[in-house]
Amino acid sequence: MHWARRAALAALLAGSLALAACGGGGGSAPTSGDGGGSQGGTIKVGLLMPLTGQISQFGEQTSNGVKLAFQQKGSKVGNYTIDVVTEDDKNDEAEAVQRVQKLITEDQVVAVIGSVSSRISIPVSEVLEQASVVHISPTSTADALTPGKEFVFRACFYDSFQGRVMARFAREHLNAQTAAILYDITNPYSEGLYKSFEAAFKELGGQVVKVESYQKGDQEFRAQLTSIASTHPDVLFLPDYYNPVGLIAQQARQVGVEATLLGADGWDDSQVYELGGDAILNGYFSNHYSIEQDNPESKAFVEAYRQEYGQDPSALAALGYDAANLLMDAIQRVIDGGGDPTDPRQIRDALEKTEGFKGVTGTITFDENHNPVKDAVVLQTTQDGHKYVTTVSPQ
Ligand code: PHE
Repeated sequence: MHWARRAALAALLAGSLALAACGGGGGSAPTSGDGGGSQGGTIKVGLLMPLTGQISQFGEQTSNGVKLAFQQKGSKVGNYTIDVVTEDDKNDEAEAVQRVQKLITEDQVVAVIGSVSSRISIPVSEVLEQASVVHISPTSTADALTPGKEFVFRACFYDSFQGRVMARFAREHLNAQTAAILYDITNPYSEGLYKSFEAAFKELGGQVVKVESYQKGDQEFRAQLTSIASTHPDVLFLPDYYNPVGLIAQQARQVGVEATLLGADGWDDSQVYELGGDAILNGYFSNHYSIEQDNPESKAFVEAYRQEYGQDPSALAALGYDAANLLMDAIQRVIDGGGDPTDPRQIRDALEKTEGFKGVTGTITFDENHNPVKDAVVLQTTQDGHKYVTTVSPQ
């Protein structure tokens, strides 16, 4: 397969790249002079994803999006060939840090795209920041990921916004007066969402009647849900990934919770229906993108993705695609400006200047913390899968 071939080529090229790195100096990169002003060469990019472990579905979809973006450009930016080195972080912090260290020292990547969950991406961002290597997380939404870090970016919106979107939706669309929350105390993504939802729901005049928590890996939630049931909330906010959420939804109905279930981007997988059954239906969650979105970038992407993978792209796939294209766009601008696209600092500078980039998940300009400012969509869980309900803009 072509990926294997590319990996073999990468191994061949590794030697010359290492030499070039020692050579230092600005200007253009090594190898294959083409007689033109820009000589071309190879640019190595790391792809760090949870390809096995608890959220491997997420890892696979995100990688598919990333790979499609590179593939559509023939893995070329100007005269340079992009060489992607993929590593499995197993959704484990220690493993992720080791893998990223390997990408930096052995592969000498200029940038890393990854990981999926904030819990992994935060420690990874610290290693990359230290090494002055560009980091773009396609999907990690926890607020803490980017602030204060020069080299760290993301392609998705962040949780303060996402929590507010769902609080506003609950108050304005569902007329909810009361809310309860059940979250994973060991996951910064889940905790951050709980806090932003709670603050916004109160600010908008609602009442948070109960907050309960659990830990990563828990399977039994009936005690917390029974205490939530006794408060009869209009909505129950479940800010976590599809696997605990499916189980929680089932157990919630068993103990008599009648609230409308609400969630966030972590719900975005068809497994939420397999695990949640009828209990998950008629819930709502915020997301980065809807397949029903009617813009040319999105339509072309959906078409190409279906052709390549024989299935519909999730928001993760769309964010992976946008992250890879954001990186290639920055590299292109470095080349156009006569710079050295093998220098992470120059890529970083170009990325920061990204303006009005037309992505599948929206138009991207970074704020001062390298967070894209863009809309969220709210989707409903129905018998026929996710259904688009509304779009919410940052105000
Ligand atoms: N936003 C989640 C996190 O930061 C990851 C995620 C993104 C999950 C999109 C599903 C869909 O942990």
